[in-house]
Amino acid sequence: MKPKADWQVLLVLSLVSLCLSIPLRDFLMEEENARRTGGNLVLGKLEEQVNKKLISLKEAEVAKARKSGYFPPSMHFFKAKGLIEQSAVFSILKRMPKGAVLHLHDYAMLSVDWLVHNATYLPDCYICFTRMGTVQFRFAKPHPPSPAPQNCSEWMLLETYRKQLHNVSEFDNSLLRNLTLVTDNPELTYLTQASIWRRFENIFVTASGLICYAPVFKAYFYQGLLELYEDNVQYVEIRALLPPVYELDGTEYNKSWSVATYQEVTRQFVKDHPDFIGAKIIFTAHRKQNINVIEKAIFKAMELRITFPDTLAGFDLVGYEDEGHSLWELKDALTIPSSRGFKLPYFFHAGETDWQGSSVDINVLDALLFNTSRIGHGFSLIKHPLARNLSLKMDVPIELCPISNQHPKVLLLVSDLRNHPAAELLAEGYPMVVSSDDPSVFGSKGVSYDFYEVFMGIGGMSTDLRTLKQLSLDSLKYSSLLPEEKAQAKQVWQKKWDQFIADLSNAFPKVL
Ligand SMILES: *[C@@H]1O[C@H](CO)[C@@H](O)[C@H](O)[C@H]1NC(C)=O
Ligand SMILES: *[C@@H]1O[C@H](CO)[C@@H](O)[C@H](O)[C@H]1NC(C)=O
Ligand SMILES: *[C@@H]1O[C@H](CO)[C@@H](O)[C@H](O)[C@H]1NC(C)=O
Ligand SMILES: *[C@@H]1O[C@H](CO)[C@@H](O)[C@H](O)[C@H]1NC(C)=O
Ligand SMILES: *[C@@H]1O[C@H](CO)[C@@H](O)[C@H](O)[C@H]1NC(C)=O
Ligand SMILES: *[C@@H]1O[C@H](CO)[C@@H](O)[C@H](O)[C@H]1NC(C)=O
Ligand SMILES: *[C@@H]1O[C@H](CO)[C@@H](O)[C@H](O)[C@H]1NC(C)=O
Ligand SMILES: [Zn+2]
Repeated sequence: MKPKADWQVLLVLSLVSLCLSIPLRDFLMEEENARRTGGNLVLGKLEEQVNKKLISLKEAEVAKARKSGYFPPSMHFFKAKGLIEQSAVFSILKRMPKGAVLHLHDYAMLSVDWLVHNATYLPDCYICFTRMGTVQFRFAKPHPPSPAPQNCSEWMLLETYRKQLHNVSEFDNSLLRNLTLVTDNPELTYLTQASIWRRFENIFVTASGLICYAPVFKAYFYQGLLELYEDNVQYVEIRALLPPVYELDGTEYNKSWSVATYQEVTRQFVKDHPDFIGAKIIFTAHRKQNINVIEKAIFKAMELRITFPDTLAGFDLVGYEDEGHSLWELKDALTIPSSRGFKLPYFFHAGETDWQGSSVDINVLDALLFNTSRIGHGFSLIKHPLARNLSLKMDVPIELCPISNQHPKVLLLVSDLRNHPAAELLAEGYPMVVSSDDPSVFGSKGVSYDFYEVFMGIGGMSTDLRTLKQLSLDSLKYSSLLPEEKAQAKQVWQKKWDQFIADLSNAFPKVL
């Protein structure tokens, strides 16, 4: 970047001469372009061609949206999804190698169709119905444990239950609805953030009955990796609560078993798909729990990190920030590793709020004070200039999850993604990675939908292929991969990127 003095001198000169200075204007615009994420990347010849075409597609879509009044990033995702799927830009983003997805939760990584159409059709699956209009599941043989969970009906064998239904596909659709927040009328269905979070946490209860069954646990993770792989993702980091996984006879496994199983399934997946890099686990605890429980979780995280140094990346807290403990309240637990000279990387969710000055808002500063490696969301970061400077100095990126920040999970955090605070961070090249958080719950999948929102909405008209390339590169840079793993990942990614560019430059004449 050129020294500031240059443009200041030009500015003074042009003010003195009282005439519009075209060189100054060009200079300022160049300067602004250079600061944007990816602004300093130099594209190759083929990339330049592809970039031109990509921009013209973007311009055409924006022009069309301005005419029709339907611009997906400014619409609720539940309504925008169908439009996004018709977009030519989206079809390119799906094909683009996107590097790593670093913010993704264990039981919401795979779209729910597989759970309903495959997992619930396995033998020995039982269901019960709650008074709140939700369902719970349990696999068991010969009988599920009794009594049934509190506030739930008797357990019924799902196979028997389905046999007496008139319309099974209608019933299966109701199960799909139990596992997502998707509705036709989101603005009327979810009136408060707290009500959304209640539904949100119910979804996890419903899903976990299925996913915690050992055979489903393994298959779900494999399918989840496959869905991401098919979305052209090369590597993932999963935040996992590691609840007990069970067998038909009620045997339960401990957390080490779960991490070992994640590791095994990942190895199998990489064996089947050698151009996939792998997965690591960030162990998480629920922030609502009291400090003694969090303390135990920290010790567990340290133990798991020693046992699985290559797989267990670190620790985080999950759950509705507003109703859980702030990081500061948990400081006695969170400083345990450092006080013992133990390196336990943190990946804190922080600042997922609109309420400036609340404890959730201040979490962004505390996350940095506790040496977080990345900030989950960091939605409120732009309101904290010092925290922002500190995180730049520490080279800590935010994990930007646009669809999750829109209506679906946290009502009205931002409704029109053009107004997402990350627009400002992107304009100044602040480090960030794009993720999808809980795609299955939002009726989304992979990370391409989120990239679409970033490219079309948050980034506006000025972002181009360079921004996309930088975001993909940064997702690997800010991952927990070890240096040699990173180098290998970069190679795999580069090869895919070159192929992507070559394919597009061949295909484009037809697209246009
Ligand atoms: C899921 O079930 C469908 C229908 O029974 C079947 O065609 C498909 O192969 C199954 N998929 C997996 C991954 O098991
Ligand atoms: C069961 O329902 C009662 C009354 O509605 C409620 O107080 C209690 O918290 C519920 N228990 C569970 C586990 O949901
Ligand atoms: C069953 O329900 C589905 C979805 O509600 C509907 O499309 C279908 O026509 C119904 N089938 C029968 C046989 O009624
Ligand atoms: C969940 O499934 C049950 C059983 O079919 C159904 O009655 C209920 O409406 C579903 N819940 C939602 C939120 O769709
Ligand atoms: C966890 O379970 C495994 C067997 O699956 C056992 O070998 C191990 O000792 C257990 N670890 C702890 C900490 O209980
Ligand atoms: C954060 O890192 C600094 C510098 O390495 C260290 O002094 C401090 O103890 C760390 N704090 C925590 C909570 O890990
Ligand atoms: C942030 O850092 C920049 C450059 O290092 C400096 O000019 C600015 O004053 C800092 N802002 C705050 C609030 O510390
Ligand atoms: Zn999250």
